Amino acid sequence: MQGFRDFTRAAAALVVGVGIAGATVVQAADITVGVSWSNFQEERWKTDEAAMKAALEAAGAAYISTDAQSSTAKQLSDVESLIARGATALIILAQDASAITPAVNKAVQEGIPVVGYDRLIENPDAFYLTFDNVEVGRMQARAVLAAQPKGNYVFIKGSAQDPNADFLHGGQVEVLKEAIDSGDIKVVGEQYTDGWLPANAQRNMEQILTANDNKVDAVVASNDGTAGGVVAALTAQGLEGIPVSGQDGDHAALNRVAIGTQTVSVWKDARELGKAAANIAVALAKGTAPVDVEGAQKWTSPGGVEMDSIFLAPVPITRDNLNVVIDAGWIAKDAACKGAPADKVAACN
Ligand code: GAL
Repeated sequence: MQGFRDFTRAAAALVVGVGIAGATVVQAADITVGVSWSNFQEERWKTDEAAMKAALEAAGAAYISTDAQSSTAKQLSDVESLIARGATALIILAQDASAITPAVNKAVQEGIPVVGYDRLIENPDAFYLTFDNVEVGRMQARAVLAAQPKGNYVFIKGSAQDPNADFLHGGQVEVLKEAIDSGDIKVVGEQYTDGWLPANAQRNMEQILTANDNKVDAVVASNDGTAGGVVAALTAQGLEGIPVSGQDGDHAALNRVAIGTQTVSVWKDARELGKAAANIAVALAKGTAPVDVEGAQKWTSPGGVEMDSIFLAPVPITRDNLNVVIDAGWIAKDAACKGAPADKVAACN
């Protein structure tokens, strides 16, 4: 009898946390998190992945992944294959916010929870985990505006298929609107960047420079990859050093900030985002309702879809506070400061 009572107590303990509808007991060992990356070539995703893997390992859950290599079509079959390989929760970094819909619907129908990772997937059943992208855009514009309050501005935007591109641009324009309306700032070029690829950003920047006889005073670039393409185009014309923005805290970009060829890299600690995604995926796979995920808040998308979401806070990194990323162990001082004028960058002294 005693043994039976112990057994029922143990079984009851296992059921706790599964949720009211949970008929089966889900243990961490049964959880496989499938991660569908859109463009793993981007430096930052490797950091996100390492954090996800570490958190999943700590939780006793398995990690499987695919990389769509910037192909919308491949990402659809990637998600199918993750489901076929036994994913019990999905983390999706969507290459194309609309095109991914059938794959997300299929997962939802099969009862597989989905975390929309970093980029919005407008589905009420998907959990949305990201940084405040509008604020990232504001931070980019504020830093460029402070360095160059007047003149000819260029916007190098992200991928048109990624809602982040317009969130960022919305924040950028919000900050620059007054100066644009007054005529202090003239927008002489504005381009989306296909697939966020640096080579495309470089080509667009070259064309804008040619069209304006090189009369460009500042570039609001939407991430560090595109900023790299922009700086290459500027350097080819001897224009390196004019204000340029970015985001992600890519190592090359932080070094450009120290050297002076990039004004700001808005840092989003991908280690935190990756860890949070892994923990949310595990909680959802165990049956936690999205609304009950710790820290979750209701958020309404531009399309009017109410979603459970978590937004992390970004930090703008300029020459003045480069120590923040060094102190956080994000980048080694040597790597950040290589070739930088130490007298102009306190963190490099
Ligand atoms: C965005 C993301 C950025 C950047 C970009 C290109 O959605 O928020 O951090 O990495 O994609 O991959």
